[in-house]
Amino acid sequence: MWPISIDAARQRRYIARFEPPDARLNDESVTTRKSTSSAGPADCPPCERVEGVKIATLARKYGTPLYVYSHTALVENFGRIARAFASIDPLIAYSVKCNSSAAVIRTLVEQGAGLDIVSIGELERGLAAGVDPAKIVFAGVGKSRREIEAALDAGIGLFNIESEPEAEAIAAAGCRLRVSAPAALRINPDVDASTHRYISTGKKENKFGIPFHVARRVFRRVSKLRGIDLRGLHAHIGSQIMKPEAYVKSLGRLTELIEFLRRDGHTIDTLNLGGGFGIDYENGINPMDMDALGRELIPLIEPLGVRLILEPGRPIAGPAGFFITRVEYIKLGDVKNFAIVDGAMNDLLRPALYSAFHRIALSEPRGGRRKQYDIVGPICESADFLGKERRLPALKSGDLLIVHDAGAYAMAMASNYNSRPRPAEVMVKGRRHYEIRRRETLSDVVRGEIIPDFMR
Ligand SMILES: Cc1ncc(COP(=O)(O)O)c(C=O)c1O
Repeated sequence: MWPISIDAARQRRYIARFEPPDARLNDESVTTRKSTSSAGPADCPPCERVEGVKIATLARKYGTPLYVYSHTALVENFGRIARAFASIDPLIAYSVKCNSSAAVIRTLVEQGAGLDIVSIGELERGLAAGVDPAKIVFAGVGKSRREIEAALDAGIGLFNIESEPEAEAIAAAGCRLRVSAPAALRINPDVDASTHRYISTGKKENKFGIPFHVARRVFRRVSKLRGIDLRGLHAHIGSQIMKPEAYVKSLGRLTELIEFLRRDGHTIDTLNLGGGFGIDYENGINPMDMDALGRELIPLIEPLGVRLILEPGRPIAGPAGFFITRVEYIKLGDVKNFAIVDGAMNDLLRPALYSAFHRIALSEPRGGRRKQYDIVGPICESADFLGKERRLPALKSGDLLIVHDAGAYAMAMASNYNSRPRPAEVMVKGRRHYEIRRRETLSDVVRGEIIPDFMR
């Protein structure tokens, strides 16, 4: 076992920031919370504010369902990672896919973040946010030629190469544009990150990266291609990883490979360890301990003499986001009570897609006996739920519910399923709030659709 000790003072500060004072006093659940189902703990104390702004005020002004982000939390979460690795001055490339809202990207770029992108759309967003292109790393198994050329044109810092054919495509684009594409080979280190099977990426059955046992040969081949400057290794073994062990294992395999590659005469100056640092969806207080991770990894990385790149997304944006939804109806069933809310799986897909657990709180303290509810949306799918078997004060129509940790893989995965307009997004900073994306209108939902002539 690795000695992971959570800094208690930091933990208290974290709670202080995100839970209202009442909740802290009443919240036995932080230490004694019991799970009523395999999904996770069932009770969640009320949550009245995001930073200094009442949730009820935000819901009144912007409507529901609504995403709300805390600017302070974004900055703090980024800082937590930056501080843990500060002694080796890494490039922390925020993983845009987890939350690509312009104001969120801009917030992190202002903190000195680079960006981990996976598409030309994310490239556009990053450049618009004012990131230094040299701080952009481009990952993804299926980069198209157009995307590769756009990234080369912009002068990005690194391509993470996923396969030999992709390396050839990048090399050809480099030759066409008369540049040498800076690149790292993404290695599949075959490490079990002990996470959900949909977000595990570093095992040999996953589609990502070059298998470890052929990496040396592939590196040799790719390094000979004109139009590519192959200078490092990349591995991203999965997401929502809670303990340092998997990273230590992955780093061990990469270190072994770096030694072989250097012996073969290659220059290796870049090591990208990906993202995936987990957050505590159940209680909000025990995320991956970044200081402990830093203490484990830094002594292993320093002697390698490489520039470290990290690609965190979820640990920065996840806990900074809240999804606000209003109860439409209460349906008391024979075996279950349902709180039918105006937010649905099209807005927040994670529970339906991964059976993900998010804490759900009422926006105001309320006494009386608690009842157990399934919190479900209006979409015609049984998978359309936000939470199951949640114990909350007796709910009524009009109540506001707050879904915690909804800043990552949340709005970014929202769709128009059931022809529902996507929610608005708001950023809160202190006592001020700013709309950062307006709610879609019904015309937005049908924009771009064409009835063929023969039907007119
Ligand atoms: C290559 C790569 N880097 C970074 C990330 C970010 O992971 P997380 O949001 O868990 O930090 C992902 C997530 O899928 C990824 O695929």
